[in-house]
Amino acid sequence: MLLSSLPGFFKTRRDTLMKKTESEGAAFIFPAAREVLRNPDVAFPFRQESNFFYLTGFEEPEAWVVLVPGASKGAAYKTILFVRRRDPVMEIWEGERYGTEGALKIFGADEAFLHDEFAKKLPELLKNVEKVYYRTNLDEAEDRIVMGALEAHRRSMGRSGRPLLTVADPNTVLASMRIFKSKEEVEAMKRACEITAAAHKAAMKETRPGMNEFEIEAFIDYQFRKSGAQRVGYGSIIAGGKNACCLHYRANNETMRDGDLLLVDAGAEFNYYTSDITRTYPIGKKFSKTQATIYDLVLKAQLECIAMAKPGATQAAIHRHASEVLVEGALSLGLMKGKTDELITSGAVKRFYPHGTGHYLGMDVHDIGLYQVNGEPRKLEAGMMFTIEPGFYIQPNDMDAPAEYRGIGIRIEDDILITANGCDVMTAGVPKSREEIEALK
Ligand code: GLY
Ligand code: MN
Ligand code: MN
Repeated sequence: MLLSSLPGFFKTRRDTLMKKTESEGAAFIFPAAREVLRNPDVAFPFRQESNFFYLTGFEEPEAWVVLVPGASKGAAYKTILFVRRRDPVMEIWEGERYGTEGALKIFGADEAFLHDEFAKKLPELLKNVEKVYYRTNLDEAEDRIVMGALEAHRRSMGRSGRPLLTVADPNTVLASMRIFKSKEEVEAMKRACEITAAAHKAAMKETRPGMNEFEIEAFIDYQFRKSGAQRVGYGSIIAGGKNACCLHYRANNETMRDGDLLLVDAGAEFNYYTSDITRTYPIGKKFSKTQATIYDLVLKAQLECIAMAKPGATQAAIHRHASEVLVEGALSLGLMKGKTDELITSGAVKRFYPHGTGHYLGMDVHDIGLYQVNGEPRKLEAGMMFTIEPGFYIQPNDMDAPAEYRGIGIRIEDDILITANGCDVMTAGVPKSREEIEALK
């Protein structure tokens, strides 16, 4: 069942958002995701913008949702949806639209208007408002409409001396909600993680020398969709051999060779929640000795970081620990020289470990949420989800590294839910010890 069949579910979120900002007299304005053309008359697949979906469950483009506070203290706030006009001809081409009637009846809007009426109506809706939460700088045309409405609103106040309404980023408030996963969200994430884990495991078995990276991309995509995921949460990275040293490799179009490793970073999106898993394994049957050495180092870092994940810990401390394990490994292999602390503080560690150890995870793969509070690393709390993904990459052109190490790139990534006393590894279903992986091949 899609979450969009539960309008009450989305209303509860709007209630929480408006309660949080009640004392500010603030309105919220969110545009739907824009439909982007890739050819004349052919759009890229549409996926609703995360905040818009989080608050409405509405999946059409060309829409706005406006939440306006009650006109007086204690009065209820209003949800106003602006949606596409119903159009019998377009609906034959593109499918049914909900129209204003659906916005009211199915999505629980208090008022609904056509998308074309947004610019005209907005100043009126902002009449009793003190502040506006709206994310600027994503789309110029949308900014012009909203800024125009703010100016019209100011002018309509006559000589009141009131300035232009303050505009603030809604993500500050929404992040404080989205960072803590509710029971329903944990369920959706759990499903996304299960689907993703099963697909990774199947891909491990499927991968053989001579296949192209895009075959594995398509194979994983098929596993995801067959299991009920609507789409990928981000473009899959299927990187054979040295391609794994490119962190966000996207070409996925090379033939895979025996003796190389394959790095697969892919996540299914289920009901708007995404998983994010990486595994690195032999394209053939076994890890070489050099590959095994680096693999075990990354796995040690990852397992120790997972053991640190509990309420009160910080992602900064987890990252620091991953960096220490990896630098100490590099020192003992003779890949680096110096002192662990200095190699981390100076940034020299980035030669082999150029990225962070994790990020919040949810509706967006790099989900919203503050990493620092009052200048200090934020403490982990139950209900937060994030990734733990150390990696070690020896660039193919790193002539200071021994030849047998060059072009090895390894990352191991799991999705973690912080619980009352520790954490759940939501993606534990994919093998990651060398023995388990080789047994599957
Ligand atoms: N898949 C992108 C990342 O791991 O951050
Ligand atoms: Mn990640
Ligand atoms: Mn990833």
